[in-house]
Amino acid sequence: MLESEGQLRYAQPMMQSLTLRRPDDWHLHLRDGAMLQGVLPETARHFARAIIMPNLVPPVVTGDQAAAYRDRILAALPDGMAFEPLMTLYLTETTDPADVAAAHASGLIKAVKLYPAGATTNSHGGVRDLSTVTAVLEKMAEIGLPLCVHGEVTTPEVDIFDREAVFIDTVLDPLRRRIPGLRVVMEHITTEEGVAYARAGGDDLGATITTHHLIINRNHILVGGIKPHYYCLPVAKREKHRLALRAAATSGEGRFFLGTDSAPHVDALKEHACGCAGCFTATNTLQLLAHVFDEENALDRLEAFTSLNGPRFYGLPLNEDRITLTKGTTAQWPAKIFTEAGPVTVFDPGFPVQWHVEA
Ligand code: NCD
Ligand code: ZN
Repeated sequence: MLESEGQLRYAQPMMQSLTLRRPDDWHLHLRDGAMLQGVLPETARHFARAIIMPNLVPPVVTGDQAAAYRDRILAALPDGMAFEPLMTLYLTETTDPADVAAAHASGLIKAVKLYPAGATTNSHGGVRDLSTVTAVLEKMAEIGLPLCVHGEVTTPEVDIFDREAVFIDTVLDPLRRRIPGLRVVMEHITTEEGVAYARAGGDDLGATITTHHLIINRNHILVGGIKPHYYCLPVAKREKHRLALRAAATSGEGRFFLGTDSAPHVDALKEHACGCAGCFTATNTLQLLAHVFDEENALDRLEAFTSLNGPRFYGLPLNEDRITLTKGTTAQWPAKIFTEAGPVTVFDPGFPVQWHVEA
């Protein structure tokens, strides 16, 4: 057996169980305050660590702000739960390379996040002109600090379904040529072009894939009535792209790893004339991934995707703890999480799932 293979065994006839190193989530939105309090246990129940997105209002821009946010996350963690937030900084046109380097040297931050201005939720303070952040990116290349990239152009002329592919050609590829050695994570890739570009890169290029993009295509959002809880950014694409993502995630290739992009918004802001982007998948991601990998006859590669490839890309130790997934009766999870900020709908895959996570 390869080291990357989870242990698959048949506990009883018809009952499968799979033991994995405890997973990590390499792209997670936890928010702040009452929402943080409400959603953090949903992730900490199953995941050891997560890369925490910095798109708060206002965003987490400096090392001091990241340290304070980390403290708020740890303070919100229920007694008896273990979880390590891996902090990031939100790149702006005035980010100070020395502050980034110091936050990295102290072990506080594990990445910097690039949001093209206006690309997604809370990204208006993002970068408009990449030439303004050259000194930061050069420093990051020098110290080996990864840049997590939201890979969509925001020019109004570009169709929303083409924004990722155009970004790769017109922004990402020139950027990587301009700053050789910069470690880049293509966040939440949604297209076959994204998969192909990630595959063409070397060890300095990784890509996260969400749970929901393995399950829905754009028809799920639009056919038979608009489904606001399936709307996220980057928006789900055609079926051929979903299939390309499935092939990549289940390939076992080290460049692909799980980043759920679990992005909670209260129902009132999702079920709205101008609904927020984001799918909330923290609660049922592992059950859903087991289902997807089972369908693809790739359960032996689930551990690579959830627990091995991410830490290897980020140069972090593998988790020593294990979790066990079992296949049995139809799994149940709450339809909503009731936070003090309001209810948050849990992603509904639209089909029954037989996989459970043992406590
Ligand atoms: C994210 C959010 O709500 O913060 N939304 C989303 O649709 N994924 C932002 C993001 O990651 O694009
Ligand atoms: Zn995100």
